Amino acid sequence: MTTETRIALRNVGRIDPESIAAYAAEGGYQALAKVLAGTPQQVVTAIVQSGLRGRGGAGFSTGLKTRFTSEATCELTDCMHYLVCNADEGEPGTFKDRLIMEGDPHLLIEGMLIAAFAVGARQAFIYIRGEYHTAIDRLRRALRAARAHGYLGSHILGSDFSLEIDLRLGAGSYLCGEELTLLDSLEGKRGHPRIKPPFPAEVGLFGQPTLVNNVETLAHLPAIITNGSQWYRRLGTDTATGTKIFTLSGDVTTPGAVEVEMGIPLRALIEDFGGGVSHGQRFKAALLGGAAGTFVPAADLDTPMDFEALKARGAVLGSGAVIVLGHRRSVADILLSILQFFQHESCGKCVPCRVGTTHLVNLAAALGETPDQRAVALDALLDQARCMAATSLCPLGQSPILAIESALRHFRSELEAPPMATPGEGTP
Ligand SMILES: Cc1cc2nc3c(=O)[nH]c(=O)nc-3n(C[C@H](O)[C@H](O)[C@H](O)COP(=O)(O)O)c2cc1C
Ligand code: SF4
Repeated sequence: MTTETRIALRNVGRIDPESIAAYAAEGGYQALAKVLAGTPQQVVTAIVQSGLRGRGGAGFSTGLKTRFTSEATCELTDCMHYLVCNADEGEPGTFKDRLIMEGDPHLLIEGMLIAAFAVGARQAFIYIRGEYHTAIDRLRRALRAARAHGYLGSHILGSDFSLEIDLRLGAGSYLCGEELTLLDSLEGKRGHPRIKPPFPAEVGLFGQPTLVNNVETLAHLPAIITNGSQWYRRLGTDTATGTKIFTLSGDVTTPGAVEVEMGIPLRALIEDFGGGVSHGQRFKAALLGGAAGTFVPAADLDTPMDFEALKARGAVLGSGAVIVLGHRRSVADILLSILQFFQHESCGKCVPCRVGTTHLVNLAAALGETPDQRAVALDALLDQARCMAATSLCPLGQSPILAIESALRHFRSELEAPPMATPGEGTP
């Protein structure tokens, strides 16, 4: 039986999230004191050596991104570095950042203080999903308490380091979770993506070097500083160190969030923590990573949950969403709702995605009655998604190919079968 290893969730459900004293009693803000006694370069080195990779979906090295941002310069006379915490959490099936912000807001604040010190930021923002009312209230209170105790503001803990953290509320656009779109939204503009490169580390918020990190990523920093990079590296796998929060939903007996070492087999997540597939169903697939994710079939249940092992199987880890589908689910129905999601969230800026997402929905909604008709429609779906992946301006238009390709790779015969042949279509 696999057990949890909690880093980002270690205080959640155990301490009063509204009490800074309760956080301090668990060793809170000691990592901040430790970094302030050293140099920003030492913090960058510690993050690089920990092997931590971003938990927001892309899995890029957090240490390298922190180093690039800390070393970036700009031509403005008043050049300053920014830190932005991405708390938009719009990926379907993902609810891990909310748990951290609601259950342990000071952990996020301390993680942000460490990251801001590393890159030399004096101003930071938390861009938070506007519907997260409890998290917003608790973060506001926690920021006030941190300021009152000398952990925020000018000359933090008597040092030369000063930082302000402000909250900004998102307005419900999935695309605004994409880092460059988020920066435009933070600047008060309409949430449209920018062309990449340049990356935010070079040209970020208001054109200045900016580190954008996910909530869960930042929540790992205090433990890395306190316990050391080598301690962190011993957790997880060689290419995916540390722990990860997985959010289990769909046809699973006990949905919820678990934090475990990277590399846990998908089967253990579903059986040991999720209590198995619900309503007496057999396992059909898991949609890993949400809408911008991939279908994983029963044959891959023993694949370790780490970036590279999943990639080798044509799957993605993404944000850690694990949406379980029992045997009575129709893959065609799930695929259609994913494509409708992308159609709804497309910002319309570029033609391949604006027109393409609607075309995908039309194709998936009317696959045809005979296997031949359906085979033709499925090939057209694949062609359209490939074209979008090659020509769309931003990752949103490049994402539908993931679900389509994996659905066709593993469930082509089911998708080609006439609709009535799918047993118990819809909700079990
Ligand atoms: C359409 C889209 C939506 C995204 N939504 C989020 C989000 O809600 N939260 C998040 O942290 N990252 C999201 N990302 C990933 C961010 O662009 C970025 O990679 C991440 O915030 C970087 O932080 P990390 O390195 O700590 O993972 C999204 C990406 C795309 C393409
Ligand atoms: S790919 Fe889609 S979401 Fe991205 S810019 Fe183009 S229309 Fe907008």
